[in-house]
Amino acid sequence: MLDVAIIGLGWWGRIITGTLAESAKLRVRRAVDADPQAARWASERGIAASTDYADALADPAVKGVVLCTPHSLHTGQIAAAAAAGKHVFCEKPLALTRADVEASVRRCREAGVVLAVGHERRFEPPMLEVKRLVRSGELGTVLQIEASFSQDKFLSLPPANWRLSEREAPAGPMTATGIHQLDLAVGLLGPAERAFASVRRLGSNLANGDTLGALVTFKSGANLLLSAILATPFAGRFAVYGNEGWVEVRDKAHPEAPEGWVLTRCRRRGKPESRDYPAAAAVRANLEAFADAAEGRALYPVPAAEMIANIAALEAIFRSAASGTVEPV
Ligand SMILES: NC(=O)c1ccc[n+]([C@@H]2O[C@H](COP(=O)([O-])OP(=O)(O)OC[C@H]3O[C@@H](n4cnc5c(N)ncnc54)[C@H](O)[C@@H]3O)[C@@H](O)[C@H]2O)c1
Repeated sequence: MLDVAIIGLGWWGRIITGTLAESAKLRVRRAVDADPQAARWASERGIAASTDYADALADPAVKGVVLCTPHSLHTGQIAAAAAAGKHVFCEKPLALTRADVEASVRRCREAGVVLAVGHERRFEPPMLEVKRLVRSGELGTVLQIEASFSQDKFLSLPPANWRLSEREAPAGPMTATGIHQLDLAVGLLGPAERAFASVRRLGSNLANGDTLGALVTFKSGANLLLSAILATPFAGRFAVYGNEGWVEVRDKAHPEAPEGWVLTRCRRRGKPESRDYPAAAAVRANLEAFADAAEGRALYPVPAAEMIANIAALEAIFRSAASGTVEPV
């Protein structure tokens, strides 16, 4: 059982606290939020809570931290956790620059602590099947990936919310949703080579932009065509095309409350065949993989090289959205 402290008790920190209540591998020992009202949310649920991150780092009973805080805080909070000898599960994006993610990977390695990241989509059963199909060669050579994630949850945020700021969330929807799709593509294709991205505000008051389209070309030569929108109802789709067939996964509901997926596969000279997947607790599965790694039962399944490749491609997308030109990764 890995005893952890949840840092940041906003939208996602509360979802994670809830999902861990049903885990046999992690126990929430403490909680921290800079906002006393949010910290009170945890105390009311019987969790020792405070407003100072240092309290969790100083607690010898806490073996790991789960960072659910604003993006620009991640690198500093990872450094402090590594220095205190705590394992780290950090929400996405792990960093906003390649230099920062490389520093986090290095600090955790040197401190002998595990670094894990909140890309739960990798743990969704149909996505595991997509990975199997790609790795086994059943789709042949991967030619192209089409991925889209849309939602309208941010329309209700106050304009000053950190998630809508250029500093915390460059390139509009990219750090909120596009990053998950980018991570899935990196997990299948490896490092990217160049990126072109366009971000516009077309259908909302979100000052930072509500519509992103990006083309990411990987070193393998395959492309990711990425769509991320913040001003239309939820839709999630991930499709991989190979020269022996294609596979597509459609989400039935937002990952915060999964309702399952439909996976459709088409073999060369075949017809599309669809299969339903029931809902699965992918967020918890990711955290439990973190616990398995921290307690020495297994390696964490997202390699550090892929964490770095994801943020390196993210940074190129930020640069391209700002420059309007193709940017090298
Ligand atoms: N994996 C997913 O699917 C998923 C979904 C939603 C959000 N997230 C990620 O979770 C993280 C948090 O996002 P959110 O939507 O919950 O934001 P939020 O604004 O709802 O919550 C963030 C919380 O962090 C607290 N905080 C700020 N500074 C702090 C500090 N120095 N120490 C402790 N607490 C501090 C805030 O008071 C707030 O309560 C982000 O990285 C976001 O991208 C991931």
